[in-house]
Amino acid sequence: MVTQGKHYTVESLKDSGVVDEVFDANDDLNEKTLEFVFSKLSAGELQVRKTGEIEADVADINWEEEINLIAKKARGKEAPVVAASVIKETVALDIRSGMKIEREAFLKLRESEQSAALRYVFGAEKQSGKFDSTAEPLNVETVGVIGGGNMGSGIATAFLNAGFKVQLIEQNEDALAAGKERVVSNIQANVKRGMINQEKANSLVSSLGAATDYQTLENCELVIEAIFEDIEVKKTLFQKLDSVVKETAILATNTSYLDINDIASVLKDPSRVIGMHFFSPAHIMKLLEVVKSEQSSEQAVATGMMIGKRLRKMPVLVGVCFGFAGNRMYTRYGREIQQMLLEGASIEQIDKAMTNWGMAMGPLAVQDLSGIDIGHNARSAQPFPEHDPGYFRAAAVMVENGRLGRKTNQGFYDYEEGKPIVSKKAAELIKGKAKSLNIEQRSFTADEIVERALLGLISEGIALFKEGIVQNLSDIDVIWLHGYGFPRHKGGPIFQAKQIGESRIQERISMLREETSELIWPEVDLSVLQ
Ligand code: NAI
Repeated sequence: MVTQGKHYTVESLKDSGVVDEVFDANDDLNEKTLEFVFSKLSAGELQVRKTGEIEADVADINWEEEINLIAKKARGKEAPVVAASVIKETVALDIRSGMKIEREAFLKLRESEQSAALRYVFGAEKQSGKFDSTAEPLNVETVGVIGGGNMGSGIATAFLNAGFKVQLIEQNEDALAAGKERVVSNIQANVKRGMINQEKANSLVSSLGAATDYQTLENCELVIEAIFEDIEVKKTLFQKLDSVVKETAILATNTSYLDINDIASVLKDPSRVIGMHFFSPAHIMKLLEVVKSEQSSEQAVATGMMIGKRLRKMPVLVGVCFGFAGNRMYTRYGREIQQMLLEGASIEQIDKAMTNWGMAMGPLAVQDLSGIDIGHNARSAQPFPEHDPGYFRAAAVMVENGRLGRKTNQGFYDYEEGKPIVSKKAAELIKGKAKSLNIEQRSFTADEIVERALLGLISEGIALFKEGIVQNLSDIDVIWLHGYGFPRHKGGPIFQAKQIGESRIQERISMLREETSELIWPEVDLSVLQ
């Protein structure tokens, strides 16, 4: 409990020795407590136990093993390991000597960069949820979700879990049944994990309506669309919604890249459109980008932000641009990763450098998981950046060779029974591509890989802030912590920029600019970091 800081239900602690007795929530607490105390008193079992006198039974603990396990789970966080070591060191000491050692360890941790990062994040998260407006958010109880695929089913689950009524719409009965099934199985997964009981699950499912008829959306105060990523398909849908959904309702799109100004333009009242960009899996990932279009009303935006909080997510307000804030930075990050592959860093080396540093997953393993073709197809719909000849060419060569990632058992890695193994073929293909592009091969250190990836993120993050796409510079960090597996104890890309320092960033970016072009590494206004 000390090293994880996790929340526990009282129920789960029943036999742990931490609680003596659990009463039913419907019972009278005073009465039950007195009853408990008197029964213990009369049995002579009630004793005051002084902390210092409680014997700890530690004979069977293999400290080294336990601490190694804690270190592994902590993924680079210092505090859990220090806390465990303090317990080991002090468990046999008297209470005063033990507390002295604990205090010293605490003060040292408090001075650490990780502690500063965590406190910074606390402030950044408070800030990012704010939207300065006098507009009253709309009262939302019933939400329409259109499309029951990967995202729509997750979005519907998130709303049900937060106590909303949901009306799910699909294009035909088969897709509807499949979508509904996904929602139900998401909810059942929480029963399996012991987070809710079956009765609660049943009641959540009973708040789910499902239909292929759009008229059933007439009572919704908010409708979120999660259908195919195609501008014409989405525009046709919004036109249809305009005539069936009540005039006061807010319409949101979950698009990842499409122009929300364009989508809103088909409505009689474009001010009621916002983006609500969820991250996959939508019922689990905390980040929600609330996208304000040119014409979104203050009320629509305020409602989006309020809904984010009611869903217990981390809503961040962003403006319209290709990929909004998160995915635009993700592309910038990906560009550096891909370029380093062409320059001679190996697939495993890059993934290891990033995960050892603290990222939840290696960037290339992520590509394999989500499907290399998805990003490739999205990029192919855009003009190729002629100034950047290596732009995502490593990914392109994978796709051209049918290596789409886990789904084809081959991508940047080969997969044997779902386990990734180093792929000689993938490495060869990348080398071949580098050769055809005349890219010189060199060796990389792990630090270089991490720094270069961070520089890409920092450069794009600051550009987003300067363009007014995000309200606060620290929103960049919140987005990366909650949407992209950036380690919390490292604070986020902007916190890292402050640690690296202006002069080092300037020097490194200038060098990279010289090697490539100012279109890839433009001037960055680092004064915003002060
Ligand atoms: P998907 O292909 O899994 O699901 C789309 C669903 O929409 C399908 O079930 C389809 O039958 C249904 N559909 C299509 N046209 C429809 C219509 N006119 N009426 C009702 N239902 C219709 O796609 P996915 O991955 O769920 O993506 C949906 C949207 O979410 C896209 O705009 C995508 O860019 C966005 N998005 C996707 C993310 C991801 O990680 N997959 C992340 C964030 C956003």
